[in-house]
Amino acid sequence: MEYDIKDPGLVELGKQRIEWADANMPVLASIRERFVEQHPLDGMVIAACLHITTETANLLRTLSAGGARVVACASNPLSTQDDVAASLVHDYGIEVFAVRGEGEEKYYAHIDACLDAHPTMTMDDGCDLVTRLHRERPDQAENVIAGTEETTTGVIRLRAMEAAGALRYPIIAVNDAYTKHLFDNRYGTGQSTLDGIIRATNVLLAGKKIVVAGYGNCGRGVASRSRGMGAQVIVCEVDPLRSLEAVMDGFRVEPMEVAAREGDIFITVTGDRDVLRSEHFALMQDGAILANSGHFDIEIDLKALTKMADGNKRQVRPGVDEFQIDDSQSSGSVGSGVVTVDRSTQGGNIAMEDGGARKGGKKRIYVIAEGRLVNLGAAEGHPAAVMDMSFANQALCSEWAVQSASGLARSVHRVPEHIDEQVAKLKLESLGVQIDTLTDEQIEYLRSWEIGT
Ligand SMILES: NC(=O)c1ccc[n+]([C@@H]2O[C@H](COP(=O)([O-])OP(=O)(O)OC[C@H]3O[C@@H](n4cnc5c(N)ncnc54)[C@H](O)[C@@H]3O)[C@@H](O)[C@H]2O)c1
Repeated sequence: MEYDIKDPGLVELGKQRIEWADANMPVLASIRERFVEQHPLDGMVIAACLHITTETANLLRTLSAGGARVVACASNPLSTQDDVAASLVHDYGIEVFAVRGEGEEKYYAHIDACLDAHPTMTMDDGCDLVTRLHRERPDQAENVIAGTEETTTGVIRLRAMEAAGALRYPIIAVNDAYTKHLFDNRYGTGQSTLDGIIRATNVLLAGKKIVVAGYGNCGRGVASRSRGMGAQVIVCEVDPLRSLEAVMDGFRVEPMEVAAREGDIFITVTGDRDVLRSEHFALMQDGAILANSGHFDIEIDLKALTKMADGNKRQVRPGVDEFQIDDSQSSGSVGSGVVTVDRSTQGGNIAMEDGGARKGGKKRIYVIAEGRLVNLGAAEGHPAAVMDMSFANQALCSEWAVQSASGLARSVHRVPEHIDEQVAKLKLESLGVQIDTLTDEQIEYLRSWEIGT
């Protein structure tokens, strides 16, 4: 068995943590029990490019219990939990190629190692595995019966592939299941993004001005959880409908040009590039903290920030980089009536830790987890209880793909309604929640058009 992990010595810790997560994933566990009996994935080789976390481990165990050979690599260089990788290899016999902090070259070498197994099914998170397969090994795509995709960014890329006529096999957009994005993206990203920021910086969120860029499924969660922690939240959006929704949800909505001058903490979660860029860095206050929770590390223009810092960059805490940039453009110079505050006289931000007032016309900007997914780079990712539903969808969609792939077009497919409903029912059952059922009269009424006033 081949694998590439950091340290086999971490195996015991990894197993303990995988089991801890499993206790909070009852829906996935019930699917695993059935898979052990029925082996619906017999003969499949699944290449999984996912965040190697405790929750993912329980999904991979489930696929393996279903009879598949599973090979896995990371979907982000910073999200791998090395203890989990060790336990997957040594306790569960799953071939893992993932090392936390791996560089780009190794990241793609690990994807290649998974493709060397000649998968018959792909399971992707962000579409790097699928694009690699299509670009570098198009012939191999013919062996793949179907794939699944976990996240918004991956689904957007896949739809672009489909539109260009480039997609060579059907893919099920797991992200678009209601039991995935309404819960994982909102409650999972909402909580774990703040968790990452808190673990990295230990800042007090109460009273801070938090700027959330993107009011989609993830942004709603981040904004509402930030408000719950006592922060004043400013939302930045480009979509009129979502902006209006944010306004009616009670948030202040501003363009980034205005928010940049006021924010203490900035969180990007758009799936778009350069959401925070040089003109915004120039306007920010001393001590501003930047974090990204969107899939790729492109939402904060780190190249521009590095250039502006001109070598004045250092690590001030694990996972927190300080960039010192010229302060000449920031203070109160803008015609919007916004007054910027020199926070070097206030407590609570990281800038205070090395002694207060900024010197020589410089200000400090802090970036967490190199601008990569902050919830996975600086914390443990989503809580298991929410990944229970996302990964139940993954497992059931793999089973459905085996049964149905031959009839599916080479396009992006929605998760079948019955799977979404099954996951919701199982989750409610596991929570001990009962719900009402329709009477026969109600069913008839809801189907009819004749009965009016
Ligand atoms: N951190 C995690 O664990 C995690 C979990 C799920 C999804 N994601 C990722 O988070 C990102 C967002 O996912 P989502 O499900 O919320 O997507 P979404 O499409 O529901 O929302 C994205 C929002 O960002 C807005 N937007 C786009 N460009 C913008 C810009 N320049 N400025 C301001 N707003 C802009 C869009 O109008 C949209 O409303 C994706 O990259 C997704 O893959 C991360």
